[in-house]
Amino acid sequence: MADKKARLSVDGLDETIELPVYSGTLGPDVIDVRALSGKGLFTYDPGFVSTAACDSSITYIDGDKGILLHRGYPIEQLAEQSDYLEVCYLLLNGELPSPAEKAEFVNTVMRHTMVHEQITYFFRGFRRDAHPMAIMVACVGALSAFYHDSLDINDAHHREVCAFRLIAKMPTLAAMCFKYSIGQPFMYPRNDLGYAENFLRMMFGTPCEEYQANPVLARAMDLIFLLHADHEQNASTSTVRLAGSSGANPFACIASGIAALWGPAHGGANEAVLAMLQEIGDESHIPEFIRRAKDPEDPFRLMGFGHRVYHNFDPRAKVMKAACDDVLAELGVEDEPLLKIAKQLEQIALEDDYFIQRKLYPNVDFYSGIIMKAIGIPTSMFTVIFALSRTIGWISHWNEFHSSPNRIGRPRQLYTGERQRDYPD
Ligand code: SDX
Repeated sequence: MADKKARLSVDGLDETIELPVYSGTLGPDVIDVRALSGKGLFTYDPGFVSTAACDSSITYIDGDKGILLHRGYPIEQLAEQSDYLEVCYLLLNGELPSPAEKAEFVNTVMRHTMVHEQITYFFRGFRRDAHPMAIMVACVGALSAFYHDSLDINDAHHREVCAFRLIAKMPTLAAMCFKYSIGQPFMYPRNDLGYAENFLRMMFGTPCEEYQANPVLARAMDLIFLLHADHEQNASTSTVRLAGSSGANPFACIASGIAALWGPAHGGANEAVLAMLQEIGDESHIPEFIRRAKDPEDPFRLMGFGHRVYHNFDPRAKVMKAACDDVLAELGVEDEPLLKIAKQLEQIALEDDYFIQRKLYPNVDFYSGIIMKAIGIPTSMFTVIFALSRTIGWISHWNEFHSSPNRIGRPRQLYTGERQRDYPD
């Protein structure tokens, strides 16, 4: 119920339009502008800078304070005390699980990690050097061809079954992409391993010998999954919601999210950060790249810096930076040159007026690639791992959308084209 009103007067309109204003639990109030179309008006907000597209109770971000809450729990506390599958349960169900609920959730996920054997035939159609994100978009979308038994989006149980299948199978498909690219056989998942441990074994194990994941690396992998799990109405999540609003099946919706995430302005930034650090190559080259990032005529941007919402440190980047030091120390590569360049780049940028005035800080992608590279994951797989991690966010928002009355999303436009004209005789 609206407890406040906004009043809009428009030149040429002989009335003041009253619009309801709603307050959420946290964050800015919103003005309900739905009545404007009946007055012959649209709102105009390219890039959705000032638009709340929905109401949601899953994740809250305060960009000015650098706050990120999942169902009310701060990301720093979840990173410190929880793990990825527990956060999956939290995002999907709204509360932390009891020990028994967690055990059942983990057991269900780990017993759905295999993919249909015929999925392997899809891989044969790709070149070995195909970008793994192209393969993921294809294979995840194709899952809907295998699971006809759970595609009734209006059935909460079907939606839960799809969520389990997606959470469980994304690591298997992701590891298959890597194995295919290096010509090694696919590794079958193991039900007796932890989620991250199982993923590392499918990535780096072979049928020729037992593979034991380094527990520090498994924990770092789980942390990367956890830190990327959800992030409110970002571009890929909004894509999943919009695809879901047409009634498309969940696998097709998640495939649309993977496609949207791929862009370098979004999830593709982690891959672009590594390429940028490698291009910089030496700390002495940093000033030139800072200059280019500030030059409006130069398309180069400091990848891993800036964020539509955060005008302070991305809290995930802080956790990631600390994890970087731990992983590199464990591997004995503290002097990793790329980390030194990254830290120097961050320090210089944060002292530069251009970045200070625009409130540009490192985001989640700035350090994640350095950890993944240290674990042995190739750059081309970074965004695949972001997609694997974000699947729970996508499916939680998709489920939230379908859990209450909804309608198809259909934005309008400011038309700037030709007036009506006749086809020439
Ligand atoms: C993710 O939305 C989410 O929540 C996304 C995400 C998630 O978890 O889902 O957090 C994950 O996508 C993180 C962002 C990863 N992308 C990058 O690191 C790519 C580099 N960053 C930029 O492309 C940019 O900062 C965006 C895309 C992240 C945000 O773009 P906006 O909000 O549209 O801001 P903008 O492009 O209008 O920039 C505002 C100003 C501009 O300068 P002026 O026109 O005012 O002179 O800041 C400048 C920009 O040129 N700017 C940068 C910059 N980012 C913004 N200048 C140099 N380097 C940068 N990185």
